[in-house]
Amino acid sequence: MEVSREQAWETLTRHTKSEALLRHALAVEAAVGWYARELGEDEELWRATALLHDFDYEMHPTLDKHPQDGAPILREEGYPEELVESVLSHAEHLSMPRDTKLKKTLFACDELAGFIHACGLVRPDGIETLEPKSVRKKLKQPSFAAGVHRDEVYRGAEELGLDLDEHIANVIQAMRPIAGRLGLRTAASA
Ligand SMILES: [Fe+2]
Ligand SMILES: [Fe+2]
Repeated sequence: MEVSREQAWETLTRHTKSEALLRHALAVEAAVGWYARELGEDEELWRATALLHDFDYEMHPTLDKHPQDGAPILREEGYPEELVESVLSHAEHLSMPRDTKLKKTLFACDELAGFIHACGLVRPDGIETLEPKSVRKKLKQPSFAAGVHRDEVYRGAEELGLDLDEHIANVIQAMRPIAGRLGLRTAASA
């Protein structure tokens, strides 16, 4: 089966109603899709994987079920093993090897996209003028977006082989075109 972004969106929205979860999926998709294009990889597959990485979170909100109990559903819907394995590998508690570029990229973008989103929510122009320096500063404040695992942000960039500032700049750039859809203020809305 050829994987398409549209089909993944259809699967995601059938299982996910929460706007916050949909925004998270879209933010991670933007970042992972940006890297797919940058690296000349299969953008549809990478985008679909990112969209679906938390697709079962609404029905499986605990780590004894997410994402492992979602995997059989993805297989039933015909998604290829490469996508399913990559979805599984984003979960630290499953200790699966992140042995492909897609797995490394998904892991590196997951927590960081959420953190950048949180940074944008407290700025008058969202992420339009957000710079890596201020993201790094906020990463050092444990009370800010406390749910974001800092160690995973740092390790993600390391596993990608990228300097943290460079990775942050890439993810900000990737998310800017969809800032409005993510509920962030933009110059147009100011
Ligand atoms: Fe997850
Ligand atoms: Fe996630």
